[in-house]
Amino acid sequence: MTQMKTLDVEAIRKDFPILARTVHGKPLVYLDNAASAQKPRCVIDAIRHVYEHEYSNVHRAAHELSAATTEKFEHARRAVQAFLNAREDREIIFTRGTTEAINLVAQAWGRANVSAGDEILITAMEHHSNIVPWQMLCQATGAKLVVAPMDDTGTLILDEYVKRLSPRTRLVACVQVSNALGTINPVAQMAQAAHKAGALILVDGAQAAPHQRIDVQALGVDFYAFSGHKAYGPTGIGALWGRAELLEAMPPWQGGGEMIKSVSFEQTTYNVIPHKFEAGTPNIADAIGLAAGLEYLAARGMDAIEAYEHELLEYATAKVREIPGLRIIGTSARKAGVISFVLEGIHAADAGMILDQQGIAVRVGQHCAEPVMDFFKVRATVRASFAFYNTRAEADVLAAGIRKVQELFS
Ligand code: ALA
Repeated sequence: MTQMKTLDVEAIRKDFPILARTVHGKPLVYLDNAASAQKPRCVIDAIRHVYEHEYSNVHRAAHELSAATTEKFEHARRAVQAFLNAREDREIIFTRGTTEAINLVAQAWGRANVSAGDEILITAMEHHSNIVPWQMLCQATGAKLVVAPMDDTGTLILDEYVKRLSPRTRLVACVQVSNALGTINPVAQMAQAAHKAGALILVDGAQAAPHQRIDVQALGVDFYAFSGHKAYGPTGIGALWGRAELLEAMPPWQGGGEMIKSVSFEQTTYNVIPHKFEAGTPNIADAIGLAAGLEYLAARGMDAIEAYEHELLEYATAKVREIPGLRIIGTSARKAGVISFVLEGIHAADAGMILDQQGIAVRVGQHCAEPVMDFFKVRATVRASFAFYNTRAEADVLAAGIRKVQELFS
């Protein structure tokens, strides 16, 4: 058995230059990681290096610079393959992020495989990116969107999910970790049930991939989407993983250069995967930056990151629970590092502003998950979301900051 690494959080913090700054004269306490995470120096350096020393377009030219950049870009694909434990690198499609990856499947796979009377099954805790693309597909095809319910802790009701699978279900689209609640869904179990019913399953891993080890083969899913910017990589880059045979059978999504084998005015033949789904010049430097970020995570150990963040979540949850008038929204037994809460008599936006004055960055609002807010009958929450560079001391600052908000509004 290999021994789990332990994290040297102080050393990790030094790798993230922005964490050393102050905000409103106070040390920055960055707890908005679910919206977008900060970047280690190796990511910043990788992007800078490629623009300063190697930059050119990829897959297109005979010259030295293009060869060097193409090698780095394809290395980045292999880095994503390793991060997800995908079987083959051609199963990795670079996208702008999770949202674009989901839209790609909804459009390319959906239009070819979904028709009137079919069903797409999602869960009640999805955020807008995993609702609206399926609604659009349903509108275009006459299919029906079915929603599996959660209970009042924000836990998926597994029996109800299974009951909603039927021979009409073509695809399950579910979040692995809820951005608004922190709930971790039993994705492997959900995949088994979906396959038993003859459906495919797509997992939105935007909030999971940065915080736990992902093995798409062990999960037994069909498509997996994640974003670079939440995984300590650059914005504007992410990936879709899909089983090769599914991607091969899918028609292309966007047309343009790179996704073709040959073009005439009469007919176009398409390239092989992954190029079939990467029309136009890709986001080269950010893919290279993403690889640097994923390799940084792998070197620290995803199991160690998950264990550390879990312990930190428990500590922070216990701290904020002591605060009278604070109600946590999302209390599932299996949670990742998100604490969403409301304060009696205080608007979330006001709380966010007072916390910001104290250097504490949180997100307030509906978190792109309006149906989740409706379910819990709240207009908005304050959300503190943790990363492996956050500390117990910062959780203490958060708790003290919330008490200060209450004092000011009492
Ligand atoms: N989905 C991102 C969040 O939860 C933007 O904040």
